[in-house]
Amino acid sequence: TFIHSKSLEELEYLHNSAAFVDEKGAIVAIELDCDQKKAEEVLLPKLGWKKGEVTVNVAKPGQFYFPGFIDTHIHASQYPNAGIFGKSTLLDWLNTYTFPMEASLSNLTKANLVYSRVIQRTLSHGTTTASYYATIDVPATNLLADLCLSLGQRAFIGRCCMDTLSPDFYRDVSAASSLADTKATISHIASIDPTYALVSPIITPRFAPSCSSELMHSLGALQKETGLPIQTHISENKNEVKLVAEMFPDHASYTHVYDNHGLLGPKTILAHCVHLTEEEVDLIKLREAKISHCPASNSAITSGTAKVRWLLEKGIEIGLGTDMSGGYSPSILEAVRQASLVSRHVAMEGDEKTKLSMEEVLYLGTRGGAKVIGLEEKIGGFGVGMEWDAQLIGLGSVEENDFNGQLDMGAVDIFGWESWEERVAKWIYNGDDRNTLSVWVKGRLVHERKL
Ligand code: GUN
Ligand code: FE
Repeated sequence: TFIHSKSLEELEYLHNSAAFVDEKGAIVAIELDCDQKKAEEVLLPKLGWKKGEVTVNVAKPGQFYFPGFIDTHIHASQYPNAGIFGKSTLLDWLNTYTFPMEASLSNLTKANLVYSRVIQRTLSHGTTTASYYATIDVPATNLLADLCLSLGQRAFIGRCCMDTLSPDFYRDVSAASSLADTKATISHIASIDPTYALVSPIITPRFAPSCSSELMHSLGALQKETGLPIQTHISENKNEVKLVAEMFPDHASYTHVYDNHGLLGPKTILAHCVHLTEEEVDLIKLREAKISHCPASNSAITSGTAKVRWLLEKGIEIGLGTDMSGGYSPSILEAVRQASLVSRHVAMEGDEKTKLSMEEVLYLGTRGGAKVIGLEEKIGGFGVGMEWDAQLIGLGSVEENDFNGQLDMGAVDIFGWESWEERVAKWIYNGDDRNTLSVWVKGRLVHERKL
């Protein structure tokens, strides 16, 4: 069984089906109504492939293949702080927890430990693509790119740019050095993955309060020159919005600050978008910029509730972000669940139609995310010509769950009478990494759960 989003409103369930993936990781055929025997004896020879020379994965009854999750906003460098935020809100959270941790990763031994672990952890939760923020440190940021390539995770790697209003121990010394360091990371990634087939740089001005006007102008120009994507934060917290208005009095809004510096375009990923005005949302739509919705983070550090239905109705492409460690969890399945719950909080504030369905939140975690990072032709669903970025999901049946600890199939009990829609719903609300049995990126097996 293969399950993926057909549209925002619809999941497609392909039962008794087979996908054929070539050595480059491309899906070359998908056959419906076929059993293992037909797949091996009729369809393989048609492709000119020999049975003994291919790897065959057969899902057990009740298991299903699902597209790999896409995390459109995650701070690799903050992983050790996941869950540690106390009662802080954005600006004091940055100073108390975040900047000291990020600064400490200029120690490459520590960076190696943290980055290896965060990649393995997110892969184990089914994240096949991540748009990462690293730190200001070039060698450590380059190391994150090396590790994504060797461990097999598709990734966008952002060297954090911040030359203003940051502590002395953690700040770019000038706009010029910030730009030069960004270019150094771009060159490094181009040297290890010249076509950006798996790992790509992403231009990363941290957010307007930590960037000078000169720095933002130069990063906007760099985007024009290179065509690379951009990621940043916007309108996450009310005090942050106020701070931006004070720091940039000549600009009509927070969104205009980015737009006036050449940072708002179709390749821009804007995280949070909690407190935007209608005028700002219309400008984002006009520029075709994309949004990363980070519901777990917005609740944890009490930033607010993003109005996702409103943003969707404006026609803006939206994906999900863990925003770890503003968000406490490395899991996009958790972000899917929190997107559902936050939309219900918005509904309780007045408007029933803001509730997101399970189909909609899963779309945001897969196809929506693919559009946000510009890879919708390749990933986010299953189709001929797309790449095999997938996870095999197993939900424990009551019969195979052994409460003596032999088999730990996670927190979902399937009694056997549930419809497929009900099984997926049970996975969204009670599933976790114990249900993520195998994970592939570009055809390569990158995680396997050992029972
Ligand atoms: N705004 C600026 N930096 C950050 C960060 O690291 N996390 C979040 N959530 N917001 C930010
Ligand atoms: Fe963030």
